[in-house]
Amino acid sequence: MRHIIDPTDLSREELDGVIDLALDIIDNREKYSEACKGKKLATLFYEPSTRTRLSFTAAMMELGGNVLGFTDAQSTSASKGETVADTTKVISCFADIIAMRHFEEGAAHVSAMNATIPVINAGDGSHSHPTQTLTDLLTIKREIGHFDNIKIGFCGDLRFGRTVHSLIKALARYEGVEVILIAPDELRLPDYMKYEVCEKNNIPYREVKTMEEVMPELDVLYMTRVQKERFLDEDEFDRVKDAFQLTAEKLKAAKPECRVLHPLPRVNEITVDVDSDPRAAYFRQVENGKFVRMALILQLLKWAEEGENSQKLLPEGTVVNQHRCSNRRCISNMENVDRLFRPATDGSGIYRCVYCESKPAK
Ligand code: CP
Repeated sequence: MRHIIDPTDLSREELDGVIDLALDIIDNREKYSEACKGKKLATLFYEPSTRTRLSFTAAMMELGGNVLGFTDAQSTSASKGETVADTTKVISCFADIIAMRHFEEGAAHVSAMNATIPVINAGDGSHSHPTQTLTDLLTIKREIGHFDNIKIGFCGDLRFGRTVHSLIKALARYEGVEVILIAPDELRLPDYMKYEVCEKNNIPYREVKTMEEVMPELDVLYMTRVQKERFLDEDEFDRVKDAFQLTAEKLKAAKPECRVLHPLPRVNEITVDVDSDPRAAYFRQVENGKFVRMALILQLLKWAEEGENSQKLLPEGTVVNQHRCSNRRCISNMENVDRLFRPATDGSGIYRCVYCESKPAK
């Protein structure tokens, strides 16, 4: 069974294949209107969402399939203590494919380990959001035409912003990508992303304090919201919440072909006067999310029918129950699952949690 838990679950060729399929869907909507007739998508959303859930729903409807699911875990047996593993086994009896959003990091991974149908991670805590990444890639493809040799500035909450982590991992598969990290000290990109993703894949990156100093050189400015819900300390949130704001005045310094992306929702990090600038691509990005999710559903169901079974949910060298995860939001600290750790990919000899990529607790 193939699942999408992380963007790295797709090879570069597979990523390109999903993007190309989405482009074909855009050009030939009628051709796909019954492609999922008789199939059911289960949307299991333990955390709020507008775009991801509704675009998954719209995607399955446009493919001629049906949708079931929940938007409030409190109305399900999760409120009685049912685990992600058990819920997944139950839903596998009712549906053909699952899209899961969860506040526990690694929840989709645990779901995939217990599913008999494909599982799509629709966002797990601040860890990963691979379908937003596919949305971002399709948007870059349609707006700029290619992924190779782009200079992309990530601005805002690079610490908790799962969409940033996922997009950098995906862009690591392309040539000549350069990353500029624009964030206050409190919201800098986690070390594992810098050392095990950027440096391991030879992606040049630099950290700067303001968007103004890099605006003229960017091909893409990827704005993010400061994720209030991930902060454990409200004072810390108050200190950084207004750190970066893109205005029409600041955008004047950008190249005419630069594009502004944002996974949305926005709070105050992009002023509304930016919306009418042709370089503001974030609402076009939303619609791309539906097309790329249509492509992903089709591809995963095709792999399931073909019995494609090459995915390793237990990476090489995984050790079981020898460490405890340092991340209190990791599913291994919230539910009764095996604690799984794999060697870090930079050869440093340290271990990383298989579910959320954090280090072991001391
Ligand atoms: N971009 C995104 O994930 O939006 P939602 O939280 O509304 O799904």
